[in-house]
Amino acid sequence: MAAIEWKPLEDIKDGDVLAEDLYDGTSFKVLLSKGTRLNEEILKNLEKREILWLPIEGKKSELEELKSSIDFDEELLKVEEPIAPGIKFSVPDEMYRGIITSFKDLADQLKVGERVDTEAVERTLGSVVDDLITQEQYVVNLFRKHVSGYLYKHGINTSILSVMIGCALSMSRYHLIPLAKAALFHDIGLMFLKDPKYVDIGGTSNRDKLLQHTTIGYKILSSKGIIEDREILDAVLEHHEKFDGTGIPFEKKGDDINFYARIVQVADAYDSLTSTTSEALNLSPYQALKWILSRSGKDYDPYVLNAFVKVLGMYPTGTKVKLNNGKNGIVIRTSGAGLLVPVVLVDDVLVDLSKEKDLWIESVVE
Ligand SMILES: [Fe+2]
Repeated sequence: MAAIEWKPLEDIKDGDVLAEDLYDGTSFKVLLSKGTRLNEEILKNLEKREILWLPIEGKKSELEELKSSIDFDEELLKVEEPIAPGIKFSVPDEMYRGIITSFKDLADQLKVGERVDTEAVERTLGSVVDDLITQEQYVVNLFRKHVSGYLYKHGINTSILSVMIGCALSMSRYHLIPLAKAALFHDIGLMFLKDPKYVDIGGTSNRDKLLQHTTIGYKILSSKGIIEDREILDAVLEHHEKFDGTGIPFEKKGDDINFYARIVQVADAYDSLTSTTSEALNLSPYQALKWILSRSGKDYDPYVLNAFVKVLGMYPTGTKVKLNNGKNGIVIRTSGAGLLVPVVLVDDVLVDLSKEKDLWIESVVE
């Protein structure tokens, strides 16, 4: 059997052979059959339909060359400095690096058309869920900037935050694991688009492009046998539906939208708003929270947002605040005693505002 290699349209030559049936992103009908020899005319047509990556029958030597050209990006494994000395994030750096490595390996296998091994990803996600399930308050480490490896870090951050929200909703491990997977893989279709760096929040996005990455992701995950669970596949397909019924691809409304998808959407938005390197979207954790809450019932499920606020508090980790005694501090985590009284680091000392009767947050320093 010929090896399958995913190639961008511009790298495909006249005479290259399609290695798998190609489906239309909207109707799911076969557009081109496996074995079709591609020519200029076909390629032009595909470009018009914005189908920009194709599975091609690869020669062994080319495949090996491609694999060796995927360098492991050292930058990707770098973790940000802690937000304050001695403050540890809820997901330890080692564990975070472990998920990056296993997720990137899987994505690389997928891109070069190798048999995909999901075991390492399953194992690392399992340990993240087991770790988070035992924690009561979280130091949310999602505002690490995506200097490199946007798609990997975004998937991982979305997965971590989704699990935190799931825990706040008292979901069991049995449901948290598929939720973690749905979140990790939700944007995998972007890997197969020409320009994956586009904005998918705030109504500024290109509807066709949104549709394309959800359907490509769904098809790749299901056809490669990476995900068999229907609920997870549906979550990937429906992660751009909106609660008021104006989303894609089905314009599903409210509870009709897959439940994992409704959680993933919120985590996806928070990470995109706070972690992107795009100037326009680089919001502070507090601004991002306000923005998301303003879309309650429109884009997002209010029931899920309720749990989201329990995780973050009204002043999320990393928010710079001014206290009534004139001192500035930085929010580390919720106190568990109320949304407005977090634990704040002031002059290198942790102050639990739920225990300080005469101390409160006067304003946010934006
Ligand atoms: Fe997306």
